[in-house]
Amino acid sequence: MTLKNGQTTSLSWLEEDDLPEIAEAINCIVREEKYLLMDKEITDLEFERMWFLEGKETGMRYLVAKVNGKVVGGASLTPFTGKRAHVAEFGIYILKNYRALGLGTILLKEFIEVAKKNRFEVIQLSVFSTNKVAMHVYRKCNFKRCGKLTHDIKFTDGTYTDRIMMELLITQ
Ligand SMILES: CC(C)(COP(=O)(O)OP(=O)(O)OC[C@H]1O[C@@H](n2cnc3c(N)ncnc32)[C@H](O)[C@@H]1OP(=O)(O)O)[C@@H](O)C(=O)NCCC(=O)NCCS
Repeated sequence: MTLKNGQTTSLSWLEEDDLPEIAEAINCIVREEKYLLMDKEITDLEFERMWFLEGKETGMRYLVAKVNGKVVGGASLTPFTGKRAHVAEFGIYILKNYRALGLGTILLKEFIEVAKKNRFEVIQLSVFSTNKVAMHVYRKCNFKRCGKLTHDIKFTDGTYTDRIMMELLITQ
C-alpha cells in the first residue's frame, strides 16, 4: 500500500518477534502524553509476551504497519466476552513522522473488514476530545459519537479533557 508521501507500507499480523519494536513504538506515543490512556512505558518484555499470548487465546487481532521493515504503527481489535462477545474495542497508534500520510485511515478501514469477516456487530472506541485528527478519521469511517465522560482525563499540566465514546454498528 502506498502512503501519501509515496512510501510503501506493509501490514502484517503481530508476531512474537515484533514485540520489542512495538513496545518501543508504543512508548514513543506514551511519552507524547496526549493521546493514550496508558501512561506508563512498557519496560517488562516478559509481561508483554504474556499479553501477546493471552491476546492470541482470547481472539485479539493486531496488525503491525511497517515501512522499510521498520514498525511505524499498529492497530488492534479486542473482543469482549459473554453478553458482549459481539462487541470489539479498537485501538490505534502511528509514529509521529508517519502521521497524516493516510496510514490511520488504511488501518481503520482494514479493521472494519476484519470485524465484518469475524462477525462482530459493534466496534467501540474512546478518544480524548482534544484529539481532533483521530476523531476526524473515525467520523470519516462512519463511527458515531455515542457518549462523553466529562473531565475524564487530567493531563500532567493540570488541564482536563473529556473522553468521547464512539461506535460503529457493522452492517454486513
Ligand atoms: C489518530 C491517528 C491514528 C490517525 O492516523 P493518521 O495516519 O495520522 O491519519 P490519516 O493520515 O489517515 O488521516 C488524518 C486525517 O486528519 C485530518 N486532519 C489533520 N489535521 C486535522 C485537524 N486539526 N482536525 C481535524 N482533522 C485533521 C487530515 O486532513 C486527514 O483527513 P483526510 O484523509 O480526510 O484528509 C494518528 O494521527 C495517531 O497515531 N495519533 C497519535 C495516537 C492516537 O491519537 N491514537 C488514537 C487514540 S484514540
